[in-house]
Amino acid sequence: MEAFLKNKPNTKKRTLFHLQKKKDRKEKIISLTAYDALTAAWLSECDIDFLLVGDSLGNVVAGYESTLPVTMDQMAYHTEIVVRGAVNVPVVADMPFLSYEINPEEAVRNAGRLVKQSGAAGVKIEGGMNIIPAVKKILNAHIPVLGHTGLKPQTVLQLGGYKVQGKTPDAAEIIKEEAKALQDAGVFAVVLECIPGELAREITEELEIPTIGIGAGKECDGQILVTHDLLGWFDKPKKFVKQYSNFRDTAVTSVKTFIEEVNLGEFPNQEHTF
Ligand code: KIV
Repeated sequence: MEAFLKNKPNTKKRTLFHLQKKKDRKEKIISLTAYDALTAAWLSECDIDFLLVGDSLGNVVAGYESTLPVTMDQMAYHTEIVVRGAVNVPVVADMPFLSYEINPEEAVRNAGRLVKQSGAAGVKIEGGMNIIPAVKKILNAHIPVLGHTGLKPQTVLQLGGYKVQGKTPDAAEIIKEEAKALQDAGVFAVVLECIPGELAREITEELEIPTIGIGAGKECDGQILVTHDLLGWFDKPKKFVKQYSNFRDTAVTSVKTFIEEVNLGEFPNQEHTF
């Protein structure tokens, strides 16, 4: 959506293939979330490798307690508007809870919807061994898949909270096996969420495909964050997030100033009047 852009992105059109090249060249992969066209447009002006329409939109924009209520209709809509705003950057869409677990046929139908109707370049699925048949079926339909292991927010009910995963040797071994199984199934990269940095380093060394970390230390091949977290839209930052600005305070101060100026009769003034 060029109308949203201040500067034209100077990058040429990127594809998901380019991620493997970056790992091979030992260059870091950068990804951030987007849930709307305007954010996708300004992020396109930055050097982003791909945008993720995360099901984190459930927490961030819909106000749910978890990602579990997020529906296929919501993912399809948000993916469509992000694709409309993105310029030269591939968009990956999350598959929401229960859109791929029931059977591989339903998984491919839902993944296909995110590509065919919404324009995603690929889909992301949380899981390990349990999702391998679905991953293979989706790949059979020529849809690129991004894996996601470590902390899988869609399993929050079983976990009893969002906790760091892979802390014991057995738990670490399971995550390594899951990452390897996802690679063997054919995913183009794997997200490692909230695991010890040392485990993420070992997985990154063992895998040929890129690893993209969130709360997984600096040794991953790339990093992903929720854009709202990075910008400081929330009061309490998570441990693995660095707030690079404080948008929430800026927004609140701006709105308070607007209210004050309207009350004082200072806005709108001559300049803003036809
Ligand atoms: O839903 C999401 O935003 C994610 C992360 C990896 C950022 O899955």
